[in-house]
Amino acid sequence: MESINYKKLFGGIYLNKKVLVTGHSGFKGSWFCKWLDLMGAEVLGYSLEPNTNPNHFENLDLKCKSIFCDIKDLEKLKNIILEFKPEIIFHFAAQPLVRISYLQPYETIQTNIIGSTNLLEIIRKVDFVKAFVNITSDKCYENKELENKAYAESDSLGGYDIYSASKACSELVTASYRDSFFNLDNYKITHNILIATCRAGNVIGGGDWSLDRLIPDIVKSIVDKKKVLIRNPKAVRPWQHVLEPLSGYLLVGQFLLEEKKEFARAWNFGPQIDSEIYVEDLVKKIKKYWDSFEYEIEQNKSNPHEANFLKLDSSFAKNILGWKPIFDIEKCLEKTISWYKDFYEKNKINTVEDIQEFIVEAKRKKLKWCDDKSK
Ligand SMILES: NC(=O)c1ccc[n+]([C@@H]2O[C@H](COP(=O)([O-])OP(=O)(O)OC[C@H]3O[C@@H](n4cnc5c(N)ncnc54)[C@H](O)[C@@H]3O)[C@@H](O)[C@H]2O)c1
Repeated sequence: MESINYKKLFGGIYLNKKVLVTGHSGFKGSWFCKWLDLMGAEVLGYSLEPNTNPNHFENLDLKCKSIFCDIKDLEKLKNIILEFKPEIIFHFAAQPLVRISYLQPYETIQTNIIGSTNLLEIIRKVDFVKAFVNITSDKCYENKELENKAYAESDSLGGYDIYSASKACSELVTASYRDSFFNLDNYKITHNILIATCRAGNVIGGGDWSLDRLIPDIVKSIVDKKKVLIRNPKAVRPWQHVLEPLSGYLLVGQFLLEEKKEFARAWNFGPQIDSEIYVEDLVKKIKKYWDSFEYEIEQNKSNPHEANFLKLDSSFAKNILGWKPIFDIEKCLEKTISWYKDFYEKNKINTVEDIQEFIVEAKRKKLKWCDDKSK
C-alpha cells in the first residue's frame, strides 16, 4: 500500500504538539491516540482504566503517557494539566451509554457535565492551552422523531434520556464559557483560547467491546455462540466508521491551533446518506461479512425510551471545513468486521492498517487534510 508521511497530515500541526486526550482508554479515544502517535504528537491521556476485557487500548502499544484518574477530580486534573501544559485538549471522557444513564443518572450527569466544566474552568486560568475540542454527540439535539429530519448545528438542543440531556448540557456549558470567558471578539485581547464542540453519529469500527452497542453485541454473541437480541430494529442511526469523526476532530483542532477563530463553534460530523439506515438492515448487511450468528428481535416492551430516528446534517463541515466522509456503509462494515475476525482468528490488530487505508482513500478523494507532500 502507498506510504504516508503522517507527520505532514493536517498541515503538520500535530508534530511534537503537546496534546491532552481525555477518555484515551476508551474506544474512540484509543483510535485517536494511535493516529496522534503516528503523526508524532506528544500525547498525555487522562481517563479511567479500561473497563472491558478485551479492550482496544491495551492492545495498541501506544506511546502516550497515561493517567488513570477521574475527570470529576478537579484538583488532580488541574495538577496534571499544570504539569503537562498541553497546547490543545480533546475531551472524549464520558459515560457514553443511553441505557446506563437510566441506571446511573446522577453519575452520568456528574461525569458528562461537571467533567467538561472542570476542564473549562481549569483552562480559563492558564495561558498555555490554545484550543479545546469537546466531543459531544448527535444525541444532543431535541429529537422530534421525524423520519426525514437531519439535525443541523442551528437546531435546538434537548434530550429525553439522561445521556442525551447531559451531552446537550455539555454543549450549552461550553458555548456559555465561550461567550463569557473565551469570547471571539476578545480573542488575542483578553484570552488566547478557541473552543469548539463536535457532534458525531453512531460510531463503529474494530476494538469496541462496550455494553449495549450493536456491533460489540454481535461480536460477543459470535464468540459466545449465542443468539443476538436486537432491541430497536426499526430505529435509524447515522452509522459511521470511527475514523470519520476523528478526522473531523483533528481538522477542527488544526484550524483552532492555526488561530482561525471562525472555526470556534459547533460542528456535525455525520456519515454519507447511504449509512443512515435501520438497525435491522445493518444487521442483515453485517451477515454478509460474518455469517456465523443468528439474531432475534427482542420483544421486551419495558425497555427504556431510546430515540427512533436520528440523522445528522453535516453540510457545514463539508462546506466550511472541507471535511467529508470517506467510507461508504459497505466499506465501513467490511473494515469493522475484518478487524474483529483478524483479532479472534489471527490474533492480529488492524488499527494502523485501517488508519492507513482510510488516509489513502481520503487522498484519492482529494481531501486537503491528507496532503502529506506540501512544504
Ligand atoms: N461511540 C459512539 O458511537 C459515540 C457517538 C457519539 C458520541 N460519542 C462520544 O464520544 C466519546 C467517547 O465515546 P466512546 O465510544 O469511546 O466511549 P468509551 O466508553 O469507549 O470511552 C469512554 C472514555 O471515557 C473515560 N471515562 C468515563 N468516565 C470517566 C470519568 N469519570 N473520569 C475519567 N474518564 C472517564 C473512560 O475511561 C474511557 O476512556 C464520549 O464522549 C461519547 O459520548 C460516542
